[in-house]
Amino acid sequence: MKGIVLAGGSGTRLYPLTQVVSKQILPIFDKPMIYYPLSILMRAGICDILVISTPRDLPLFQALLGDGGDFGLSLSYAEQAQPNGLAEAFLLGRDFIGGDSVAMILGDNLYFGDGLTQLCQAATARSDSATVFAYQVEDPQRYGVVQFDPRTGQPVQIVEKPEFPPSDWAVTGLYFYSNEVVRIAAAITPSERGELEITAVNNAYLERNLLEIVQLGRGYAWLDTGTPESLHDAASFVRTIEHRQGVQIACLEEIGLEMGWLDPERARARAAILGNTRYATYLQRRIRDLAS
Ligand code: TTP
Repeated sequence: MKGIVLAGGSGTRLYPLTQVVSKQILPIFDKPMIYYPLSILMRAGICDILVISTPRDLPLFQALLGDGGDFGLSLSYAEQAQPNGLAEAFLLGRDFIGGDSVAMILGDNLYFGDGLTQLCQAATARSDSATVFAYQVEDPQRYGVVQFDPRTGQPVQIVEKPEFPPSDWAVTGLYFYSNEVVRIAAAITPSERGELEITAVNNAYLERNLLEIVQLGRGYAWLDTGTPESLHDAASFVRTIEHRQGVQIACLEEIGLEMGWLDPERARARAAILGNTRYATYLQRRIRDLAS
């Protein structure tokens, strides 16, 4: 399975923070935002990943992440000229996806919770259908919302940014699709706001009875980081967990080592470059732990 991190957009809700730099480069506590979605794809077992961003910001991601070798990844890059919607990723990524199934994650989404890796790995195994994750939120109007049949409890449709939400279950920014997604994305037309909507893609799978909606319960955190408040909340969340448990969230080199993709020698060299930081000290500890 291939992976895509969609890290474009305009980030207007974070102005002036994002006037000259991508939202997904900004820090969430001790590392750049894009590390977090990358870590989710990696834990799902995906090491061949396309990063999509704006023409302005793509060089920054290339400078930050390179060819991915520092993490045991193979990274490619593509420009999205305009924020034409999430589903455009599958058109921009058509050659990269080739004949494979594909997972996409939004560059500003942060997931945390025990069992998430297993859920993602199960989703990657369903390569002929689609899987999305829904999360109960206070403000469903901002998202694609799942409408359930009151009798059977089965999902009926997903409604994009409804004025009167049919439930409080929002579809989150992590999607697993069969190869068919390339054709489905090519067939949808822009919405009233001029975007190729991911909700249209999900509804196409739902109509074919090929969409699994996994409801993430209270034991999970799904944070998006699109406003100053949510950015601060996410940083506090990461800081709290990391300090309390002495573990790092989204240490990409650690995940690369655990997956067997990254050579310990290279990880050691990487830790040396990162200098005298908590992150580097943690990485050195993990290199030692994993070797014993
Ligand atoms: P949004 O938060 O909906 O949009 P945005 O990042 O442009 O921010 P704002 O609303 O403040 O102007 O986007 C969600 C994620 O998807 C974010 O990581 C950016 C990304 N995105 C793209 O890469 N391309 C797109 O065409 C769109 C619509 C979003």
